[in-house]
Amino acid sequence: MLQNTSENWGSLAKGFHWLIAILVLGMIALGFIAQDTPRGPLRVELFTWHKSTGLLILSLMTLRLLWRLVNPVPILPPSLKGWEKFVAHLTHWLLYAALFVMPLSGYTITSAANVPFKFYKLVPVPLLVPPDRALSHQAADVHEWTAWFLIGLLGLHVAAALRHHFLLKDDVLTKMLPGTRTGGSET
Ligand code: HEM
Ligand code: HEM
Repeated sequence: MLQNTSENWGSLAKGFHWLIAILVLGMIALGFIAQDTPRGPLRVELFTWHKSTGLLILSLMTLRLLWRLVNPVPILPPSLKGWEKFVAHLTHWLLYAALFVMPLSGYTITSAANVPFKFYKLVPVPLLVPPDRALSHQAADVHEWTAWFLIGLLGLHVAAALRHHFLLKDDVLTKMLPGTRTGGSET
């Protein structure tokens, strides 16, 4: 089923989760690699892919957030303590926030530095703000600190998913896997 229920994630939410997960992990690696590449055509090429995929993630996150807001969400196992549920929800919303701050700060770095680029070398991307060197540096700081914050959150997130599966032995992780449908009377 496309939509979520209070028991299961629908295929669209799972699709968003895994597509964005793969893109973001790739983007973190690509960001560090591009930054360490000496100035030249290879660096420009790597950053064109980085920036284009970043804007793709921004569009996907916008659709994902809208979909999330109009859908029920599977409830966490009732056996979890109040603070565990609180930390789970907090981590998820912080992930959402970081996945908007990353592309928007990246877009601000490039725009304020007045470095235009074409989306996947095809469509010219308008600059978000007028040239402003100081703003570009501030946005670069935000981009870098948010990247480290995101890496920390992802470590916590994956550890929590593995804890659910291997220690608590509940169905929180399997529910997010493609094609899996657990519990409830949904068809
Ligand atoms: C989810 C989306 C994104 C992720 C996870 C991401 C991740 C990263 C990472 C890990 C770095 C290296 C560390 C640092 O920030 O200095 C980086 C650098 C950079 N990213 Fe992104 N990025 C994203 C989106 C974007 C977008 C949309 C743009 C521009 C349109 C962009 C432009 C840049 C630039 C210009 C740098 C180099 C910054 C510097 O040299 O100080 N990024 N990114
Ligand atoms: C690679 C291993 C990963 C595993 C095993 C995993 C597992 C899960 C699971 C089981 C859930 C559902 C939790 C629940 O029922 O409340 C979830 C939700 C979520 N995951 Fe992941 N995840 C992974 C990677 C990622 C990555 C890389 C990102 C971010 C780019 C991410 C972002 C999210 C978000 C934002 C939610 C909340 C969904 C919502 O409430 O709409 N995950 N993940």
